[in-house]
Formats: sequence, C-alpha cells, structure tokens
Amino acid sequence: MSAPTPAGLLRHAQQVTPVLPDRLVAWQRQEGRHHLPWQRVRDPYRVWLSEIMLQQTQVSTVLGYFERFLQRFPDVQALAASPLDDVLTLWSGLGYYSRARNLHRCAQDVVALHGGQFPRSSEGLQTLPGIGPSTAAAVAAFCFDERISIMDGNVKRVLSRVLGWDQDLSVKTHERALWAAAQAVLPERAEDMPSYTQGLMDLGATLCTQRKPACLTCPWSDICKARVQGDAERYPVKTRKLKRSERESWWLWLQWQDQVWLQQMPSKGVWAGLWTLPLLDSEDEVRTLVGSTLAVQIELQPRLKHVLTHLDWYLHPRRVLISDARAAAALQKALSAREVSGRWVATTDLANWGLPAPLRRLL
Ligand code: ADE
Repeated sequence: MSAPTPAGLLRHAQQVTPVLPDRLVAWQRQEGRHHLPWQRVRDPYRVWLSEIMLQQTQVSTVLGYFERFLQRFPDVQALAASPLDDVLTLWSGLGYYSRARNLHRCAQDVVALHGGQFPRSSEGLQTLPGIGPSTAAAVAAFCFDERISIMDGNVKRVLSRVLGWDQDLSVKTHERALWAAAQAVLPERAEDMPSYTQGLMDLGATLCTQRKPACLTCPWSDICKARVQGDAERYPVKTRKLKRSERESWWLWLQWQDQVWLQQMPSKGVWAGLWTLPLLDSEDEVRTLVGSTLAVQIELQPRLKHVLTHLDWYLHPRRVLISDARAAAALQKALSAREVSGRWVATTDLANWGLPAPLRRLL
C-alpha cells in the first residue's frame, strides 16, 4: 500500500463528510458533557478564561479555580484593573504561571485596544497575548459559531484515528495536512459548531483515550480507519519526544518566630513573579550562608520532586530554625546581598501570597 498523502487525506475527509460531523454533533447532544460551568454561555470572557485554565490542567482541578476567579474578577474590566500579584495569588496551585501573566496582559489589551470586547473572529483573537490558534478557534467556535477547528493534543489523536492519518505529526507538513482535513470535516451549519467542538473534546476525554479507547460505543466506530485496522493505540504517530532534563535546588526555609523568609522570583522563567523560599544551588551554599551564624539549627527535610513539562526538579528543603533576633538580621542581610527582594511573611498570612503549589504544600 502506498503511503498516505495530504491530498489523499483531504479527499477522504471530504468523503466522510457530513456523516462524520453530524454523528459527532448528535452524540455530543445525547452523551456529551453539558454540566460544565463554562458551557452554554456565549460569553467570550468566561470561555476564554476556562480554555486558558484547561490548558495542561484537568477539568476537576479547574472547576474551583474558575468559580473563584469569576467571583473575584466578574468581567474582563475587573481583571484588567487588578494588580498582577492578585491574579498570581488566585492562580497559585494551577501551575504554568506564564498563563496567568498572559491572562492579565490579555485582559488589559482587550480593555485598552478593543474597548472591552473580545475580537469576534479566531484571527482577531490570536492577536492577543496567550491566545494561540487552538484557543482562538475554541472561543470563536463556542461564542461566535465560527467554522474553525480546534487542534489540541486530544483532537490530533481523535482525528488522526478516525481518518487513519499515520504520518509523523512532529513533521510540520503532516500536522498541517491534518489541520486541513479537520477544516474539511466541520459541520456545514455554523450553529452546530459549539456542539461539534465540545464533541471533539468530550470524545477525546471519555471514549477516544490514549490507552484502551472505547471503540464499541464510539459514534464513529464504523467509519474509523484506526479501529478497522485494529490498532487505534498506534495513533497519533509522533516520533519526536520532548527532551527532559533534571535540576536540583536547595530550598532555604528560614523560620524566625512565626515568620518565614520569602523572595520574589524574577519576571521570566519558572514560577515567574511568584514568592518562594530562597533557592540555592548546593548544600555547600546553604552551609556557607548559614554556617557562620550562631543561634540556628538546621533541619534536613526529604527531597521533593516537582515535575514540569521539560524538567524534573528536585528540591531539598533545609529548615533553619532561628532563635534570636541578631541571627535573623544577619541572615536577612546575607540574603538581601543576593540582589533579590525578600521579606518576612507571617505563616498565618501565607494564603494571601502567590506561592508555587509545592511550596504551599510544604509550608
Ligand atoms: N478542555 C479544553 N477545553 C475544554 C472544554 N471546553 N470542556 C472540557 N474540557 C476542555
């Protein structure tokens, strides 16, 4: 059999339309999810907020954050007018904090450049910070019935299976071909776009899962090429894997009476703008910093592993119990010489500070 080509894929996509989109729309209305708080509203602010939160984060985790955000920032004007620190504090625990910073910048741009109204097309939405093609497509399809396909990891899996596209998606032209096919299988009627788009997400989350897909109950069962071949789990084909690295840091946990010393991370990089215990590169650095100070006691705590997209980060907490004011002042001086702003924070007040999730758990 000859290798499938982009043109062949597109032809096949046109052949299975409108059966493919119509089945998905009907299935979504019958079997899909309808209870999520960002559904059945056509308010781009809510839909955008939910889509940003749902990137790399599960629905069950997002639910609480979504409600708290809306209570605090009921509209885009309220979000734009608030200090970034408040947004980061409320985001604390969701991870990938660049999303929160872009969220804030995006709200400010919507207010300053668009009179407080989100642009009504996926193209216009993509001009805003933090809104990529797939997020823009989701907002435009859900709120404005635009005939445009989302293309996140779930959708790549679902569509490459049903259309039998087994070319390597880490090659740009192959990914582009799948996107063109995704456009060809959209429902004809624009008003079906919200159900269709939600259907793609629901199918990927519930039936067409990475492992052990539930093909028997799938609305596409008889037209799915991967199922007919009997090897759905082989899809999507993606050869280039993310390269991961490891890093080790020592977390200096200074405890003076009921306070801990926190410092703010720089505005770029991991945990940008959040507050953390000082991060040191080695045990030696901890000893050098603390070693000459009397009236302290160092408690070694078990290593923590914090998993980021590209990185396994091993963190060694070193709790330093300080028993007199002079020692506290000496350590504060030593840390302040490291050109990062820091301060003592009462442990009872920690809830009001934007802390990374593993630190919140530790403290
Ligand atoms: N993941 C991304 N967007 C979603 C949505 N609207 N509903 C459920 N899961 C999602």
